[in-house]
Amino acid sequence: MENFDQIESDILNKIKNVSNRNSLDSVKTEIFGKKGIITELFKKIGSLDQSQRKEYASKLNDLKAKITEILKKQVVNLGQSEINNKLKNEKIDITLPGRTYFAGRIHPVSQVIDEVTSIFAEIGFSVEEGPDVESEYYNFSALNTPENHPARDMQDTFYLDRSKDLLLRTHTSPVQIRTMLKSKPPFKIIAPGRTYRCDSDQTHSPMFHQLEGLHIDKNINMGHLKGCLYYFVKKFFEVEKVKIRFRPSHFPFTEPSAEVDIGYKIQDGQIKIGEGYKWLEILGCGMVHPNVLINVKVNPKQYQGYAFGVGIDRLAMLKYGINDLRAFFESDIRWLEFYGFDPLDVPTNYRGLSR
Ligand code: DAH
Repeated sequence: MENFDQIESDILNKIKNVSNRNSLDSVKTEIFGKKGIITELFKKIGSLDQSQRKEYASKLNDLKAKITEILKKQVVNLGQSEINNKLKNEKIDITLPGRTYFAGRIHPVSQVIDEVTSIFAEIGFSVEEGPDVESEYYNFSALNTPENHPARDMQDTFYLDRSKDLLLRTHTSPVQIRTMLKSKPPFKIIAPGRTYRCDSDQTHSPMFHQLEGLHIDKNINMGHLKGCLYYFVKKFFEVEKVKIRFRPSHFPFTEPSAEVDIGYKIQDGQIKIGEGYKWLEILGCGMVHPNVLINVKVNPKQYQGYAFGVGIDRLAMLKYGINDLRAFFESDIRWLEFYGFDPLDVPTNYRGLSR
């Protein structure tokens, strides 16, 4: 019969002499692998004499259990000494400068769209979107704009394909039409988005942003329009009180129509919204024209409501003290780093109106 004591002490020596977990793995294979020492000993059982078999198998099983136990302990020991060595040898060099990381910035237009959306969401408006490439029908005709209206002029509007009636929308108002055509009243929506006109100077860019608002229900009147806009302006400019003026105006899709001005003054070279004796136009609005409701199959005798359109870029310029609109769209990273917003909602470069 095999000298199990000798085999045991040979194996234990091998295990003891190992200095890291990798070499322990190869010793394990040497012992328990396909052709390992113990594996081979097990293979022998079949060829043994009946009289020896029992004793041999029992000794071999004991040896296997003992070695397995010792291997386990050795894994733990080696793991510990490896980590201790690591801790001893790998010291952190605290004199190295920290790693800088670069976070992107939120563009003022995106920031204002988020702010405005959450302000209106609080009073029950949901958000709708429409395509930038529109048909003349949605952009003008359905909005009660006559064939000969100056806004339809090629000097003002980018036509893509006149034969197919395709143009870049000149305002977000076509989203009113799309929203009302796709479901039934009541409607209470806002629609932020890009708009386009042939225009370019310090306060006009050929591409700009608007926010449309539409509220249609039974018994909606101009008082609701006023209340809604007061609420919006106060929340947006973060002021307790604000002077607002409704000036009669004309839009083909509203009757009556108004333009809304807010009071402001210049103090220490900064614009202050809400106070003072100067007026600044911020939006167009009115009661939705019955013809528009008829065009979208809403009965104007049952349903009425108001609509408004605000220039988003204008709002951003006013709130954050930015005076050249063109810079908004020049994609200069230095500009964005200065005027942009921290993605974690902390306006670190907040250049408030009343700094
Ligand atoms: N669409 C108008 C424009 O771009 C703004 C506007 C005025 C929108 C009155 C409205 C509104 O919804 O009722 O100048």
